[in-house]
Amino acid sequence: MKSVLEFKARKTSGPKISMVSAYTHWEARFLAASSVDCILVGDSLAVVLDGELTTFAATPETMARHTRAVARGADGKLVIADFPFLAARRGIVAAVDCAAELLRAGAHAVKIEGVDGHEDVLRHLTQSGVPVLGHLGLTPQSIHALGGYKVQGKNEPAATELVRQARAIEAAGCFGLVLECVPAAVAAGITAAIGIPTIGIGAGPDTDGQVLVFHDLLGLNPGFNARFVRRFADASTAVNNGLAAFAKAVAKGDYPSKKETY
Ligand code: KIV
Repeated sequence: MKSVLEFKARKTSGPKISMVSAYTHWEARFLAASSVDCILVGDSLAVVLDGELTTFAATPETMARHTRAVARGADGKLVIADFPFLAARRGIVAAVDCAAELLRAGAHAVKIEGVDGHEDVLRHLTQSGVPVLGHLGLTPQSIHALGGYKVQGKNEPAATELVRQARAIEAAGCFGLVLECVPAAVAAGITAAIGIPTIGIGAGPDTDGQVLVFHDLLGLNPGFNARFVRRFADASTAVNNGLAAFAKAVAKGDYPSKKETY
């Protein structure tokens, strides 16, 4: 997938959209060679790559650096970059600066968490030609206000509130919406209520697409056991076996061989 126009068309034409959060040049090269539709340079990089407990450590500079590395490996595949912690809350000028930095680094679009209190920022960016992907439900940049990593929209008023926010995101001109950790029925209701594609993570099977983190779906992060993660490969076993084989070959003097020596 090369553009947000193709992304939007999938809502009616199908097939469902596959998206992977990735942060480095070599991850992007694997994804470029795959049939995964699009790449999200998520601010989850602060947690996955840097071992932070939250995504707060990601800055516009961090996001631009990783976006540049990913875009260079993505071979034209749609790249969406996360607006980092509070970047949408400093007013329109700061948001325009952040979007400019991310698009100059090679992103085709940005993702922004939440809507209430920054609808004007979303509208200004979309009207300025910056495609924006919304994000509702468990929004990790609000983790302290949410009281932890918990499923959102579990009761009727909270679910109704999510539908209202999803409609506001569509009205602001966003081209799609990530729904994170919400009950499947709530995600299905939102997907039916709006005209832009929904991308779920921990949101059940009825969204218009799914996103997972590269390391989680490939089993590179065996300590992370959220219910929604399916391991489509066991890359950590391959890595562990490779490292053990290298250490053993060095210890025994089997490496390097004559063929591997100048
Ligand atoms: O930062 C991220 O990787 C994300 C996805 C998990 C949706 O926001």
